[in-house]
Amino acid sequence: MLNGHEMKTGPSKTYSIAIDGPTGAGKSTLAREIAKRLGCTYIDTGAMYRAIGLYVLRKNILSDDVEKIISLLPEIRLSITHEGDGQHIFLNGEDVSHEIRTAEASIYASNVSKIPEVRAFLLDTQRQLAEHSNAVMDGRDIGTVVLPNADVKIFLTATPEVRASRRYKEMKEKGMDITYDSVLEDLIWRDRNDSTRSTAPLKQAEDAVLLDTTELTFEESVQKALDIIYGRLGTLSPPSAG
Ligand code: DC
Repeated sequence: MLNGHEMKTGPSKTYSIAIDGPTGAGKSTLAREIAKRLGCTYIDTGAMYRAIGLYVLRKNILSDDVEKIISLLPEIRLSITHEGDGQHIFLNGEDVSHEIRTAEASIYASNVSKIPEVRAFLLDTQRQLAEHSNAVMDGRDIGTVVLPNADVKIFLTATPEVRASRRYKEMKEKGMDITYDSVLEDLIWRDRNDSTRSTAPLKQAEDAVLLDTTELTFEESVQKALDIIYGRLGTLSPPSAG
């Protein structure tokens, strides 16, 4: 029993929950909270693209220099740990969890993520991470490419204006010097960049449930997501019950 819901399978079967959606839809905050409530692992795949973007940025290579970026991939080792405060990502042994969050790293992440070789470089790791434990994984192509057989798929969205204003507030609270217009502009640019690329573009999987949070509070969004999850998993056993 979990929050009054019966779940269905025995402890040996693992489940995966895919959450995709555009920039600023609140995927990571929601996915982290859901993982906490279900007692399973949260995997943030955007952090992996960001770490590669950061590596390219630090090397002073333009994010559209595809050949050069591909040639750097063998130098890159990524590892992930899960600690009390969430996922940490290590780039060649260095914890870059904070540094990957800058506006510049976001642009680099979006650009390197268009390169098929970069996506292929990360694919196995992402699949393996979800294979051995119950997981909530968020990104852009989780339900369509990474985990096409995920037990639950949610496509999380909200209007660009609402996403931008939430992100603006968040950045302001962190003391960042930013304007609402620049946040909105960056978000629209990334939406376009991520959804128009030829390999694994951002799009809703056919069997994903659309969750539009434009009019919802965070707690309402969490409740709706949990309803979708319990609705799909039926009586699947929660990991902690195993
Ligand atoms: O979720 P995020 O903003 O941290 O992701 C950063 C970039 O990485 C995003 O602009 C697109 C890319 N990305 C991707 O292409 N596929 C994923 N599964 C996750 C992120």
